[in-house]
Amino acid sequence: MLLTMRVAGIAFVCGVALNAHALAQAPGVNYDEAKVRPYTLPDPLVCLDGTRVTDAETWQKKRRPELLELFRHHVYGRSPGRPADLKFEITSEDKTALAGQATRKLVTVYLLGKKDGPSMDLLLYLPNQAPRPVPVFLGLNFGGNQAIHTDPGIPISTRWMRPTKDKTVEDNRATEASRGKEARRWQVEKVLGRGYGLATVYYGDLEPDHPEGWKSGIRAALSPQGAGTEFPPDAWGAIGAWAWGLSRALDYLETDRDVDARRVAVIGHSRLGKTALWAGAQDERFALVISNNSGEGGAALARRWFGETTAIINKAFPHWFCGNFKQYGGREDQLPVDQHELIALMAPRPVYVASAEEDRWADPRGEFLAAKHAGPVYRLFGKEGVGVEEMPPIDRPVGQFVGYHIRSGGHDVTAYDWEQYLNFADRHLRGGKR
Ligand code: GCU
Repeated sequence: MLLTMRVAGIAFVCGVALNAHALAQAPGVNYDEAKVRPYTLPDPLVCLDGTRVTDAETWQKKRRPELLELFRHHVYGRSPGRPADLKFEITSEDKTALAGQATRKLVTVYLLGKKDGPSMDLLLYLPNQAPRPVPVFLGLNFGGNQAIHTDPGIPISTRWMRPTKDKTVEDNRATEASRGKEARRWQVEKVLGRGYGLATVYYGDLEPDHPEGWKSGIRAALSPQGAGTEFPPDAWGAIGAWAWGLSRALDYLETDRDVDARRVAVIGHSRLGKTALWAGAQDERFALVISNNSGEGGAALARRWFGETTAIINKAFPHWFCGNFKQYGGREDQLPVDQHELIALMAPRPVYVASAEEDRWADPRGEFLAAKHAGPVYRLFGKEGVGVEEMPPIDRPVGQFVGYHIRSGGHDVTAYDWEQYLNFADRHLRGGKR
């Protein structure tokens, strides 16, 4: 812990000190609905100067940038833009992948334009039966690109990976046994069969997911002081770095003539669901945003005391958020934002929030309420949000421009979840234009 503090800089030291203090006072985990204390959510339509937003134009020009800035400063940190010399190299293209159903492209994105600099490997499947250019689902994966399908044409990632109990990672490297281990969560054939492409990148290509990971990731690479950087308290964290990678993947997709980059849905599960939301909030080129079981720091309201808390997430994952976020453990009511406003930042674009019944850690009700309370912003655009007052029953999707379901079962991405995302995308991304 001390080491982490020293290398990450003074501001971070203060952040951690505050966090430790806050944690001592912070309540533990609550799973009892009766114990959820009353809270007041900030109103997404009230500006910092106290004026009320009543039209879409004021939202876009004034309140949206203001809220985005609050999320940058207090929660996720500030990310850089697109590097001037980003380069893409298509290293292979196979039109007969997946028994002829797909074209598989492997693309290396040189993030600083140099072959000996940082890079990420993008895997793209395109349906051969659908008219081009196709809409695409884009998401980061947890286990390397080879984990999303058993397809032998996907190279095994050579990047750092967290050790696993099975034989899929050895010496922090993925093994052949990892091929297809996350396939159930990606439903590649189903997605292609519905006429969508699927693009993915291993999140560890951007930053290995541990407190020291930034030193060998893009955050150090983009900083003049490299691994010696002392980040200010509003600098990007790992979620910011991963979200930045999603935007760089979209930069590539914009250059691919087989892809309709105006119809890209960004999707993520759990910590990568938090990441998908932050990517979608910052980068309005994403036409649709999907949060699967993203929970605390994602779709769940921070102020609702249920499941994971701000104090717990900051302690367990000190590298995910910015230094300033550390001061809100046990003081969620002091946060100038809450997560319904993150969802509102997608407006007027469609956004989908999904929970799972047994995933109480992620606070399904808090996720529903955040989705619901984004509604007033959608209404500025004449669009309906979740369209219901009460949380729907299990396995009963709701929502117009803000989709929501709570699925039976646990923390996961299932065929059922994908079915709903595809139906939602069909409603919003079909027909060429947004
Ligand atoms: C932990 C963490 C969650 C996160 C999840 C995941 O459970 O507490 O906030 O969403 O990991 O990413 O799998």
